Amino acid sequence: MTDARVTLDTITSLAKRRGFIFQSSEIYGGLASCWDFGPLGVELKNNVKNLWWKHVVRMRDDVTGMDSSILMHPDVWVASGHVGAFHDMLVDCMNCKTRVREDHLENGKCPRCGGSEFTEPKKFQLMFKTHAGSTEGGTMDIWLRPETCQGIFVDFKLMQTASRLKVPFGIAQIGKSFRNEVTTKSFIFRSREFEQMEMEFFCKSDEADQWYEHWRDARWNWYIDHVGVKKENLKLAPHAPENLAHYAKAAVDIVYNFPFGWNEIEGVHNRTDFDLKSHQEHAKKELLYFDQETNEKFIPWVIETSAGVERCCLVAMCDAYDEDEIGGEKRTVLRFKHAIAPIKVAVFPLQKNPELQVPARKIYEELNDSFNCVFDVAGNIGRRYRRQDEIGTPYCVTIDFDSLNDQAVTIRERDTTEQVRIGMDKVKSWLLEKLL
Ligand code: GAP
Repeated sequence: MTDARVTLDTITSLAKRRGFIFQSSEIYGGLASCWDFGPLGVELKNNVKNLWWKHVVRMRDDVTGMDSSILMHPDVWVASGHVGAFHDMLVDCMNCKTRVREDHLENGKCPRCGGSEFTEPKKFQLMFKTHAGSTEGGTMDIWLRPETCQGIFVDFKLMQTASRLKVPFGIAQIGKSFRNEVTTKSFIFRSREFEQMEMEFFCKSDEADQWYEHWRDARWNWYIDHVGVKKENLKLAPHAPENLAHYAKAAVDIVYNFPFGWNEIEGVHNRTDFDLKSHQEHAKKELLYFDQETNEKFIPWVIETSAGVERCCLVAMCDAYDEDEIGGEKRTVLRFKHAIAPIKVAVFPLQKNPELQVPARKIYEELNDSFNCVFDVAGNIGRRYRRQDEIGTPYCVTIDFDSLNDQAVTIRERDTTEQVRIGMDKVKSWLLEKLL
């Protein structure tokens, strides 16, 4: 294992070459800050989402899940504060004409040319606007949601009644969000279309500090224990009181040491009763919670955990990336945690001939309903191992000529490259024990 940090260019080119992530609409010259996930990328993304869902929703009996609509009534975004306050202040550099966020100037200088003269700052709305309805029936201006949590707040009553959960409890969802971001570099770190994994935990106001700490710690541990991020590459960055969002009483970012510096992957916020109160006022619908034990009616406070799926994928790739030497040959390896690896097992017949291919295919088909597997016959065995190392496949199963006599196969482990010989009838249970 080496300590060298990977560059963003290396990750970007590996991601493209091996089918993780491509530029959107590439044949038309691409669309800035929009990305397509290829065969391995979609598996990686699904693994991240499933892992989050497992630990935030499925394994807890105080959190339930939902999937709300991307398009919502436009008043939602007035109540949430986005129509009034979700904008960047932009300036144009007088020298090179680059438009840049005022808060992204480097010591008051243009990050592109170093110029120090700018136009007056202008407001730039970050939500994408679109229209619902045909022109005949009249159209309505609506927004693409810039965060998924508002779907949770506006359905709070319906969800609480349907789930019969009592405060304290949480509602979680994963879904697309859209922001017309001005700064569009750093690969998938900041996109215009991305997915969020958000959880809103409703509690009594006097228990909010305790739940805030609980969720901050739970989310920190998730990155280390389940995504496999190295502790030294993670930090907690609490927001100073003067930098808190308009709705927050306390906030902390979980930040990662990306190749381009420490940046946020997830935010944990104490949102107070701001959102439910504001929707209650704007929608003129009561959003009080009735506590049957105490006969009290109140608006719960909310602790939010909000993570980006793509940012988490980028963290997983950067943190797993390694280069070492095997038998004097340099290799690239993604040391993914098993749950994160897009492919769990690769099955190889040593050579292409049917004598080996038929039993190899049989093993592949047996494994395929339990794990995501690939079958590969192309190239020498060393090259096939390297191909799997580079995409982070934990195990490779090889069927050779001895297999025909001893009914056993070789299983090679990615990180150590150690090999064990296992009877064909035990391959599945051996892998199940290692992988699940
Ligand atoms: N509901 C609170 C909220 O949306 P946020 O800090 O604006 O808070 C939460 O976003 C998370 O969503 C971020 O930590 C990040 O992981 C992800 N995110 C936000 N904007 C993003 C973008 N333009 N591209 C990719 N991920 C983004």
